[in-house]
Amino acid sequence: MQVYISADEPIGVSADALVVPFFSESPLEGVAKEIDASLDGIIADALTSGDVRGKLGEHVLIYTKGQPFRRVLAVSLGDRSTFQPYLLARYTGSAVRYLGRRNVEKIAIALPPPSGDQAAFASFVAEGAITGSFDTTLYQEHPERRLATSEIVVLSKGFDATEIERGIAHGVALGEAVNLARRLALTPANDMTPTRMAEEAAKVAETAGLGIDVLDEARAAREGMGSFLSVAQGSVQPPKFIVLRYDGDPSSKELLALVGKGITFDTGGISIKPAEKMEDMKYDMSGGAAVIAAMSAVGKLKPKINVVGIVPATENMPGGKATKPGDIVTAMNGKTIEVINTDAEGRLILADALCYANKLGATKIVDAATLTGACVIALGHASSAAVTNDDTWGAAFFAAAKPTGERYWQMPYYEDYTQQMKSDIADLKNTGGRPAGTLTAAAFLREFVGSTPWIHLDIAGTAYLENESAWQAKGPTGVPVRAFLALVASLGDQSKAHPNGARAAELRV
Ligand code: BES
Ligand code: MN
Ligand code: ZN
Repeated sequence: MQVYISADEPIGVSADALVVPFFSESPLEGVAKEIDASLDGIIADALTSGDVRGKLGEHVLIYTKGQPFRRVLAVSLGDRSTFQPYLLARYTGSAVRYLGRRNVEKIAIALPPPSGDQAAFASFVAEGAITGSFDTTLYQEHPERRLATSEIVVLSKGFDATEIERGIAHGVALGEAVNLARRLALTPANDMTPTRMAEEAAKVAETAGLGIDVLDEARAAREGMGSFLSVAQGSVQPPKFIVLRYDGDPSSKELLALVGKGITFDTGGISIKPAEKMEDMKYDMSGGAAVIAAMSAVGKLKPKINVVGIVPATENMPGGKATKPGDIVTAMNGKTIEVINTDAEGRLILADALCYANKLGATKIVDAATLTGACVIALGHASSAAVTNDDTWGAAFFAAAKPTGERYWQMPYYEDYTQQMKSDIADLKNTGGRPAGTLTAAAFLREFVGSTPWIHLDIAGTAYLENESAWQAKGPTGVPVRAFLALVASLGDQSKAHPNGARAAELRV
């Protein structure tokens, strides 16, 4: 997908389709109004026909005659009163998916009239174009539904061209990172092994100019990662403990650690899962995929901050050497863990990853994991859960994440949950029963972060979706890449912090 900018008169732009926005039950505005006027009011006519009510993403397709564009697609931004800039990503995403399926190759996109941050507007438009065109047909020889759109032209007349340019550069990097995370997650576990994940991370390191260190089993053992390795021992696939490093502010001692669960397949181990929907457990490395993908964009956008990405990658299999319920393992910080249920493996690999983040000198930690089914019961697919040990750090995360459109709902930490995780014969056990399953899991992780400000994101309900939407294919969503990057940007340069997470100086194209 190529994203271009044109400051020409919209009515003269040659494209296979021209996309214009409207708010529900409102007259056309700005570029949309101008175009409508040149077309004898056919767009306004179509909108008053009653075919659409103007719910977000609803659209009407109109064919034109004698124009440099064959079609006009009017797409609703929903109610004006609830408009948020991130909805522009859904606006473009819907247009690309609808038109792309109809073999439309080149799309010109009009923006709503300028208001607020123009670069943020443009960033969301580019993000939506790239994420909307995500290709899920990689394994099909003759795909029926590959999206045809390869070119987007953003109409910038009436906008500040440099703002639009830098916004688009940011949105393209972000959208590509989201799609990278989705591709890694979508790839089935026979291909996306821990070894392959490490190779993908190495490719990212090479192209984005990051440092990389991959600890194999022997090195992980020397580091004392008994908890991580206890999950890996049931599989014939060698585990990989992946570390990506970006030093954007060498003069600072601050180090942000992004930690992601990298279970490339979760059978449950000896506490094996039922067959139904087990295939979805190829997505159990979504947190790790998001870390690798976010690091790739960090390397490209070059914010002034030090970031380390940590991904413990392994399968959770019931092989002959697998951990058995009742086994006791020792994590890097010396804490012993009684493994009650081998299906609560995410917390076991994260325990050592969080210890390692501290060993590397992390001063702030965020982890993301498809950690608990209980999270899906609590919040469904509408929001991720978030638990922190430091409300100031939590607030910084929420403030950065909110404008991205990704949702995070804070859940509490109480000492009670830690009590629930105490074992009779070891320091901890790895399950605390059914009550508050998401929060006992978080309380378990908390035992490995020490006093470093930390926030845990349970993305079990948001990392992948069973249904497509107008703007997004079904399957992996790329959550939490957008929040990771917005957080990095907000810390990277407070003075130039951008509402959409971009930083002014770094984004010139
Ligand atoms: N990967 C699963 C959690 C999960 C479930 C993610 C459904 C996405 C969709 C995790 O490893 C797991 O199995 N958790 C167990 C923990 C339990 C044994 C304490 C769960 O939630 O059932
Ligand atoms: Mn599991
Ligand atoms: Zn799992």
